[in-house]
Amino acid sequence: MFHESEDEFVVERRHPSSFRVRRTAFTDPDVYRREQHQIWDRTWLYVGHTSEVPNNGDFVARNVAGRPVIMARGRDGTVRVLFNSCRHRGAEVCPHERGNSRSFTCPYHAWTYSNTGGLINIPSQEDFPADFPKDELGLMSPAQCDDYRGFVFVCFDPSTQPLSDYLAGAKEFIDLVVDASPAGVQIVEGTHRYGVHANWKLLSENGYDGYHLFPTHRTYLDFMRERGADTKAAGKRYEGSRALDLGNGHAVTARRQAMFPRLIARWNEVLPEEIRPRIEERRRELVGRLGEERALRVAEESFNMLIFPNLNILGGVTPVVRVLHPAGIDQIEVTGWCAGYVDDEPLERKMRLREFLSFWGPAGWATPDDVSILESCQRAYRASREVEWNDISKGMDREQPDNRDEEQMRVFWRQWQGLMNDSVEFVRPIPQEEAVTLASAGGAGQ
Ligand code: FES
Ligand SMILES: [Fe+2]
Repeated sequence: MFHESEDEFVVERRHPSSFRVRRTAFTDPDVYRREQHQIWDRTWLYVGHTSEVPNNGDFVARNVAGRPVIMARGRDGTVRVLFNSCRHRGAEVCPHERGNSRSFTCPYHAWTYSNTGGLINIPSQEDFPADFPKDELGLMSPAQCDDYRGFVFVCFDPSTQPLSDYLAGAKEFIDLVVDASPAGVQIVEGTHRYGVHANWKLLSENGYDGYHLFPTHRTYLDFMRERGADTKAAGKRYEGSRALDLGNGHAVTARRQAMFPRLIARWNEVLPEEIRPRIEERRRELVGRLGEERALRVAEESFNMLIFPNLNILGGVTPVVRVLHPAGIDQIEVTGWCAGYVDDEPLERKMRLREFLSFWGPAGWATPDDVSILESCQRAYRASREVEWNDISKGMDREQPDNRDEEQMRVFWRQWQGLMNDSVEFVRPIPQEEAVTLASAGGAGQ
């Protein structure tokens, strides 16, 4: 029986081991409000990938933790993140989700900004005061913007450590995705977008939860078995399977699968013959460029990673980038992108998109099952006064927990708790000049 103080949400014990999370962490409005400034205002948050804006003038408009932003490649070739809010009286200056434009004209009173952010035109400017500071009224940027190998993030807190330090061990797994092709990652146009009636942390946990595969995704596994796949092998502990703490709350479950995931080869039985020569070609290129050992890892290591708090990078056959944002205490907005490579051949691209749609899509093999079980958890947390605790102790006594254990979630919750109660500090303030530098021209995924 647990007797913990009212304000502890995460309780970790040793001898004997136990790890529990208080269910009101998913339901308490005070927790939700505190998360806003303790987590969303302080951590680095994913915006998009530079390959989504390949040409000067390209832009995408996004929401990042509730803030509307524009990621635009300016006429100077630099990718910037700008707040999508007019300096006059606030309207979103860019009402489109994506496009190409030299400037953004606010739909309210038509102030116009260049695609580098500067304010270039004010209608009836002569009516404004004599020394009206037009030059200082460009679109604003978040306190920090940076990219890692084309993955663009922002941070609203100038005192958080730089992105590269923040990402810590997660960089190694981003590298696995990016290194798979010499031509670079290309985020394929189009998104999956769906909502879940659950607290955002339920989905953060779910993205790398290997324990739920068999009970929750039975329909998918039955289907694959009918197609001739050896799903029993998938039930065993994978070779090289491990759950890793990557630092700063990021964690990954990784496993070696006897296949070439990023080269399209899951379930060999269902691969069309025409794709095999291309896989061989990719294999040769990888070995030539990276050496046997690294090539094998880049090609065969499959992983599910969460970059704290809300970015999944799923490194399988088709790398998937999925970001989730809370839209209320029990509402999640999810956006998923399929990552391919600039040098994908049409058949490769088609197969990646098929996998992306059929497995990860809102109506795919996996997502509806996950959505429904997460919503079930959230409903049941209404009884959290009586049924107080979640247990997250699986694999705690194992020296190297694996992808079927729950170490990755413990990493998440330790960071969450540390940020919420201020015992985790992001250090090293950075000078303001550095704060707005971003990916410059140079193309996708480099
Ligand atoms: S709010 Fe944008 S021009 Fe007035
Ligand atoms: Fe799932």
